Amino acid sequence: MRKIFFIVFLFTFNTALANEVAKNLSQKNGCFACHSVKVKVLGPSFVDVSKKYNSHQDARQLLIEKIKNGGSGNWGNVPMISYPNLSDKDIGVMVDWILEL
Ligand code: HEC
Repeated sequence: MRKIFFIVFLFTFNTALANEVAKNLSQKNGCFACHSVKVKVLGPSFVDVSKKYNSHQDARQLLIEKIKNGGSGNWGNVPMISYPNLSDKDIGVMVDWILEL
């Protein structure tokens, strides 16, 4: 029984930690200037992004490419800026967090 509690604790802790890392990365890279988790700002809310893509098979790769290259057309005419210098790993951490929302 104790073992189960410990495993649940570790899992919860790990997820919470990953979420914090993702939020810090988003903060550091200025994503929250145009996005918020729940409300549309200049860009779509991350909850809406998650809703739109979480049944999409290639969502992770698709969104990584979009953040790297920027562009418009999926939510309107306002373009998203590009992040050519961000690593796929860091972008992946943020995308995983967004898709879990
Ligand atoms: C200058 C404003 C701006 C900044 C800064 C910005 N975004 Fe965006 N983002 C947008 C806009 C506008 C869209 C909608 C683009 C479209 O219609 O295709 C968007 C779309 C997205 C999407 C959905 C992509 C799609 O094709 O549906 C994701 C995911 C996203 N942004 C994540 C991020 C992350 C992560 C960061 C920080 C690394 C970030 N954005 C920074 C404006 C911004």
